[in-house]
Amino acid sequence: MNIILLGCPGAGKGTQSKILTSRYQITHISTGDIFREEMAHSTEMGKKVSQYVKSGRLVPDALVSEVVASRLQNCSKGFLLDGFPRTLEQAQVLDAFLSKSNQTIDVVVYLNLKEEEVIRRLSARRQCSGCGEVYNLETRIPRVPDTCDSCGGKLTQREDDMPETIKKRLMVYADLTDPLVAYYKVNQVFYEVDAADPPEEVSASISKIIDEMAAKAKS
Ligand code: AP5
Repeated sequence: MNIILLGCPGAGKGTQSKILTSRYQITHISTGDIFREEMAHSTEMGKKVSQYVKSGRLVPDALVSEVVASRLQNCSKGFLLDGFPRTLEQAQVLDAFLSKSNQTIDVVVYLNLKEEEVIRRLSARRQCSGCGEVYNLETRIPRVPDTCDSCGGKLTQREDDMPETIKKRLMVYADLTDPLVAYYKVNQVFYEVDAADPPEEVSASISKIIDEMAAKAKS
């Protein structure tokens, strides 16, 4: 099963990806996570992408596409793309890669969320500096303040979750990524899900879509 999760910053792509990749045993490819990991280790790539990620701008298409193409080569059981594609150019690179390797996208899920809720969620997001677990000061509160329930690591706020950078990310999303909704909407495998519901309800809606697609493919 090959899946694309579309949605604006804070729509819940990372939260849903974690649930779905564990449920369906497919590879999670999050370009944001990949870049943050590279930045944390100050690798050459991390240094290259840091200025873009921290300021809420997009990393150049050529670099992102190269990173994703190399990960896609090792996904024998399927994959879930979270945060990619993000521009029409990236979508076209993905199409070319899939057609060359005789693969298709089985489901595109668009997580739809109002801007005011996005800002609220991103402002309240905290992440464990140890294991990467994601919390929310309103909806997923850690048992001990500023401390990860899973590993005891310190919770921090992502640099790009500061108010000015959130604004910038939303502008970039509207300009460059939102057009992808129309790009995929013409496709039979496009589905829209209300991302305002609690996480378990959102994942139940997405799972229903995936299970129906899988049953159709078998019949
Ligand atoms: P990336 O990490 O992909 O950021 P994003 O798309 O802006 O998405 P977020 O991670 O902010 O949000 P999310 O949708 O995953 O929400 P989450 O589940 O965490 O990219 C970061 C940067 O990397 C980009 O700005 C760019 O610079 C670069 N980049 C990445 N990919 C690129 C690409 N393809 N091309 C170019 N550049 C690229 O949830 C948010 C919060 O809400 C959490 O606190 C969570 O607990 C809470 N929450 C989640 N679901 C719910 C719910 N249903 N109800 C209540 N609370 C919820």
